[in-house]
Amino acid sequence: MRTLYKIPTSCKTLDKALEGGIPVGNITLLYGEAETGKTTFSMQCAVNCAKLGYKTLFIDADSTFSVGRLSQLTSKDSNLTQQIYLMKPADFKEQASIIDQLANYITRKFGLIIFDTITSLYRVEISENPKKTFDLNRELNRQLAFLAQTAKIKKVAILITSQVRSILDETYEVEPVATRVLKFWSDVILAVKPTENPTIVKIFLEKKPSKTKLIECYLKIGKEGIKDYITA
Ligand SMILES: Nc1ncnc2c1ncn2[C@@H]1O[C@H](COP(=O)(O)OP(=O)(O)OP(=O)(O)O)[C@@H](O)[C@H]1O
Ligand SMILES: [Mg+2]
Repeated sequence: MRTLYKIPTSCKTLDKALEGGIPVGNITLLYGEAETGKTTFSMQCAVNCAKLGYKTLFIDADSTFSVGRLSQLTSKDSNLTQQIYLMKPADFKEQASIIDQLANYITRKFGLIIFDTITSLYRVEISENPKKTFDLNRELNRQLAFLAQTAKIKKVAILITSQVRSILDETYEVEPVATRVLKFWSDVILAVKPTENPTIVKIFLEKKPSKTKLIECYLKIGKEGIKDYITA
């Protein structure tokens, strides 16, 4: 098995800017508004990881992982889908225990861990216990520190997603704090923004690991996944 350094995203402009894809040993954060293709992008990375012969652990905290969508992205290749393992934490406590036990199930055959969406259960917990915001924030920070360490020790790439809202609502005080924690621990940061066309999004490489150039480009979400959209 070849040593894994990068996992291609299949977005050519982005892969070029990231010198091959999202890096092993680091956390990559993908954040943006609802329906901007974050889950699609994550699944696509899992499929690419499978194509390189490595397994992915997909932690689905949103319960939005769709087997149908995955088989679309793999063109129904079951050899690829079998490389993707799914876990669904029911609450923030279960999320913590999955993270704490990662070392037990991440073998050398794994190349990628995806956490989609890392802040959903945290938000639920805060809305139920607003007085515990400080403690919950500290717990989120602890989980991220643990993930950063796991990425290095287990030599896997970690991709986390987070949803942000453009409209201020009751969570607006929570959001910037959580985003600050996620950004602190992430070596690569990708921000995805909607455009007037719901199938096209704009992605910004906000932070990168090496001397590569920061870029922004358009991506199109379709049946085959999320790919470069070349504007005329
Ligand atoms: N099979 C498909 N073919 C074409 N487009 C699809 C398909 N499945 C989903 N989409 C489109 O992808 C977009 C949403 O993708 P996705 O679920 O990856 O977004 P997201 O950023 O993860 O959303 P959320 O923040 O709600 O989790 C939607 O606009 C949806 O219409
Ligand atoms: Mg999603």
